[in-house]
Amino acid sequence: MTTESSPDRRNFIKTTAKTVVAGSVAGSLLSQTAPAFGFHSGVDDKLKIGLVGCGGRGTGAVINALKADSNSEVTAVADAFQDRIDVCIKSLGRNKLASERMNVPAEHQFTGFDCAKDLVGTDVDVVILATPPYFRPSQLRAAVEAGKHVFCEKPVAVDAPGVRHVEESCKMASEMGNSVVSGLCWRYDDGVRATMEQIHGGTIGDILTIQENYLTGTLWHRGEDPAWSEMEHQMRNWLYYNWLSGDHIAEQHIHSLDKAVWLMGDQPPSIAYGSGGRLVRTQPKWGNIYDHFSTCYEWDNGVKTYSYCRQMAGCFNDVEDYIVGTEGTAKVLKHEIKDSKGNTVWKYDQKKPSMYDVEHVHLFNSIRQGQPINNGDYMCKSTLMAIMGREACYTGKKIKWDELHASDDKLGPENWAWGDYQPREVAKPG
Ligand SMILES: NC(=O)c1ccc[n+]([C@@H]2O[C@H](COP(=O)([O-])OP(=O)(O)OC[C@H]3O[C@@H](n4cnc5c(N)ncnc54)[C@H](O)[C@@H]3O)[C@@H](O)[C@H]2O)c1
Repeated sequence: MTTESSPDRRNFIKTTAKTVVAGSVAGSLLSQTAPAFGFHSGVDDKLKIGLVGCGGRGTGAVINALKADSNSEVTAVADAFQDRIDVCIKSLGRNKLASERMNVPAEHQFTGFDCAKDLVGTDVDVVILATPPYFRPSQLRAAVEAGKHVFCEKPVAVDAPGVRHVEESCKMASEMGNSVVSGLCWRYDDGVRATMEQIHGGTIGDILTIQENYLTGTLWHRGEDPAWSEMEHQMRNWLYYNWLSGDHIAEQHIHSLDKAVWLMGDQPPSIAYGSGGRLVRTQPKWGNIYDHFSTCYEWDNGVKTYSYCRQMAGCFNDVEDYIVGTEGTAKVLKHEIKDSKGNTVWKYDQKKPSMYDVEHVHLFNSIRQGQPINNGDYMCKSTLMAIMGREACYTGKKIKWDELHASDDKLGPENWAWGDYQPREVAKPG
């Protein structure tokens, strides 16, 4: 394990902390109710946070992390581009909590393709990975090999080789006793967790079908600049290049697919087929992704998930999980269960903390207590499920889970370099 953190210090965090805080914090960590934010663990060691990917989510995640542990500070940041670091630091500086707990000198600000490797070479304890998903496998490996605890945004890869690489990294983290907490945030939402418990406990009987809707509007586009190379243009507008984002079925709809696989006891579907395309995103500025996907996933026991995602302006929007069981129905995001006659038999309407805060409370408590969390299994399955749907719609073929998992089809360049990288053509089924 290569890390600049002294072994004594890490050992201290893992062992002493367990003794000191186990009684006081474990209850709030493991409960479904609001955890105690900003608790002091009793461990004097400061946990140092490094951020890789200084965009919207990464900047927000730093604040969630600082809130989660009162004895933490952000000490290093990395981004492909210095201007993104500058915006992030400025934005953190406007936040009261972050401005007081940010200590990022110029020599701890890293840019370029190797910035994540440079960052994990510093003495940070926790690394937040919030770059475009294409970079996740290599950046996760760098963090794990350096012995860091990781908060890992979704999706974790854009292709099957990337998913297998992440599976290996998560196994390594587990063997090293370090945490990997996933940004699949609904797993940390009290209302969703309570609804899942009801369904898994049999309130709607056996699950027959799942419908996953992510019908929504459009996201940002960061424009064009003649000074940018083609590679820089794509990285700045990464959402629209499937080698960088995985396409929106992976980048966004993964939240829904993750709930489907969770409902199924984290057992993946065996086949998928579907159709999709781009009706509105016809100009080159939208890269090579689709604007809609409709996918049917089938499990061996006959359960099907009908998954719909669309990113178009001016259309009907709906983001919800609709579950039909033998004895009732559920809406997961609404946290509501009805019997087969349509009467509401259960509803979660308690006040709940932000899931974005809760996931970091779990991560930091796991470090303080020396009880690592590893979300690797489901974050890899949900990512592959999204890739499965994408490939089913791109090809028009039936895709089998096992064959896809073994696939060597790798998106993106072999070597990273600024210049004229040409992405694949827009996929045409058939
Ligand atoms: N869990 C959630 O609810 C949620 C919400 C939003 C975004 N996300 C995920 O977080 C990730 C980031 O999304 P975002 O909205 O913050 O995007 P963003 O574009 O605002 O931020 C990404 C940052 O990564 C930088 N970057 C690109 N390539 C890099 C590289 N090789 N090394 C280092 N930095 C690099 C970009 O310059 C940019 O600043 C994505 O995976 C996205 O799917 C999750």
